[in-house]
Amino acid sequence: MFISGKVAFVTGGANGIGLCYVKELLKNSAKGVTIADLDAKQGHKIVEELSKEYGKNRVIFVKVDVTNKKELNDGMKKTVETFKNLDIIINNAGIMNDAIWEKEIDINIKGSIHGCLLGMDEYIPKYKSSSEGVIVNISSTLGIEPCGGLPAYTATKHAIIGLSRSLAQLNNKNVKILTICPGPTATALLDDLFNKTPNTSLEKYSNVIKQQLASIKGMQEAPAVAEYVIKLIGDAKNGTIWVIENNEINEVIIPDKEGLLKKC
Ligand SMILES: NC(=O)c1ccc[n+]([C@@H]2O[C@H](COP(=O)([O-])OP(=O)(O)OC[C@H]3O[C@@H](n4cnc5c(N)ncnc54)[C@H](O)[C@@H]3O)[C@@H](O)[C@H]2O)c1
Repeated sequence: MFISGKVAFVTGGANGIGLCYVKELLKNSAKGVTIADLDAKQGHKIVEELSKEYGKNRVIFVKVDVTNKKELNDGMKKTVETFKNLDIIINNAGIMNDAIWEKEIDINIKGSIHGCLLGMDEYIPKYKSSSEGVIVNISSTLGIEPCGGLPAYTATKHAIIGLSRSLAQLNNKNVKILTICPGPTATALLDDLFNKTPNTSLEKYSNVIKQQLASIKGMQEAPAVAEYVIKLIGDAKNGTIWVIENNEINEVIIPDKEGLLKKC
């Protein structure tokens, strides 16, 4: 029910799990959805397809590089000009490629921080259509466990947990902060994994990746992840963190600092 009549902004919404969030929002009667993505060709194609399926003027595309705060701001501005409100931001855009780890940090961490700051400080308090807006930050199961094959990607996803927990602690009544940790999901993100390791010590990293890939129990489908996330946007409490893996959902309970320490 929460989604009905609301306006959402989804980064990285032109492909993969992001596109499934967009579809699920429309299916649940969102008033408007903005796809903010670098991939303009796919973005325009998707808007055309979704407009046929869900009706005209309910979805727009804005070409945005999330590493650029001005572009993100312009995308949110266009959203409120078009739909008059902004209630939900899903900071989803991400890459998994440790061979270009500085860029990975820029997109996965800087992009999400830009999205949170613009959402919390500027857009949601001014343009929400009901008492509370929602920001969803996309981490990964690699946000709560190590992965020797992808150390930089894993660091970016751990950073998202710290970002969300800290912003949620502010207990800003206007904006609820949620974090999602998907497990392995069938999208282009995982393609060509062996070429995505740092080009120094490539062999060492790809051996670790081979072992870790072999331990993956199953690859879930992106629409199933999106269905859970769209439900959580309405139901979940501020600051909560959720793992969606093998088509199952579990809340992540992180003990306080004392609970993590072992007396020596
Ligand atoms: N697929 C998985 O197994 C998996 C698991 C855990 C977490 N995740 C996370 O979920 C999110 C989505 O992943 P996916 O699998 O759908 O990936 P994907 O590669 O299918 O889609 C990513 C989208 O982000 C866009 N994008 C990339 N860089 C961008 C930038 N600088 N600015 C704006 N848009 C940009 C791409 O154009 C693409 O549309 C990512 O944050 C990823 O880390 C994915």
